[in-house]
Amino acid sequence: MTPRPTEDRWRAIAPGRVNLIGEHTDYNGLPVLPIAIDRDVRIEFTVVDDGAVRLDSPVPRFAPLEFQLKRPIEAADQGDWSNYVRAAARGLSEHGVELRRGIEGTVTGDVPIASGLSSSSALVVASALALLKANGVAVAGVSELEGHPAAPAGPGLSRLELAAVMARAERFVGLQGGGMDQAACLHGVAGHALRIDFDPLGVTPVAVPEGWRWVVASSLVRAEKAAGARDAYNVRARQCREALALGAGGAPTYRDLIAANDDLDGLLQHARRALTPVLFRRFRHVVTEGHRVALAEDAIRDGDMERFGDLMVGSHSSLRDDYEVSTAELDEIVAIALEAGAAGARLTGAGFGGCAVALCGRSTVAPVMEALAARFYAPRLGGPPTRDMMFAAQPSGGARVEGG
Ligand code: GLA
Repeated sequence: MTPRPTEDRWRAIAPGRVNLIGEHTDYNGLPVLPIAIDRDVRIEFTVVDDGAVRLDSPVPRFAPLEFQLKRPIEAADQGDWSNYVRAAARGLSEHGVELRRGIEGTVTGDVPIASGLSSSSALVVASALALLKANGVAVAGVSELEGHPAAPAGPGLSRLELAAVMARAERFVGLQGGGMDQAACLHGVAGHALRIDFDPLGVTPVAVPEGWRWVVASSLVRAEKAAGARDAYNVRARQCREALALGAGGAPTYRDLIAANDDLDGLLQHARRALTPVLFRRFRHVVTEGHRVALAEDAIRDGDMERFGDLMVGSHSSLRDDYEVSTAELDEIVAIALEAGAAGARLTGAGFGGCAVALCGRSTVAPVMEALAARFYAPRLGGPPTRDMMFAAQPSGGARVEGG
């Protein structure tokens, strides 16, 4: 059957995210504190009646993709970008959303890929929003078209529900991720960090004080979620579960454990005796990082960003030494940024490559970027970094659908 595109063209826009603090805590049920950033994945699409998804991309390595929405939606080969779109479709249909109509269009964007900035979750969320729009399912607060006469009345989902469904759906691609990326993408608020809680999922925006910037710097090492980093990530998720089972004296979750133990040192001493050295280090990272997130939220609310910066430095050391997900390049970026005057710096995202983020007062943004350009990028590139490699990120609004 020949597809019959409707006249309307829509844009589903979904931002990437930078996690400020709270790394590898989400899948352990502890809060995180990311921002949605002013870089996004965009799907410009029309609605088609033949139940197909056809998307292309100007990026040559992303070959045009096509699949049918009829269940079951099979995975393509591992590493194939269509899996992120398939994951969105499969997640929606498993959630009971009937997907009769398809989409046809083009994916563009400026979230650096495989850099720990959640380009993949942005693609999953943008795909879901496009499919929901095509099938007349409203998402509370997401479509700028609510109230638009052409917006069909009908069933709907809340943003939180969609974030939870997409977090589950993305696991279809292989990484046993928490739920931070999809929630940050859907709940971004300009000028705000987002405290995200899990089980149940909840999002609380926290205003970032005026005059502070987040400089993002790529380590130039790709962190492919669908490839090598996936296994190392999934191993750590398993180790955390084992450490909890063996070292927590019966507490069923990390949150219960922390709630029941005011004395962090006592808890760690007990765990050190109960766990192997590796499991103890994983356990110590999770427990102390959970504590740092709570302190960081207090610091940001108090406007004490120097303190926030110190907590970022503590987070990085813990990720490097206890969680063992940093790299020499990420450590070097953190060191250069701190020497150049950043209030704090740490790796962001899963690690194993990807990016670091540095917290800079207004007057330290330029010196930090100059130092990174001269000492990290120039020796490696023989010239300055591109705007994908280093940029100042703005806390930005969440995913949405525009056009029509
Ligand atoms: C990846 C996952 C997230 C989170 C981070 C580490 O980005 O998708 O859910 O676990 O790693 O904090």
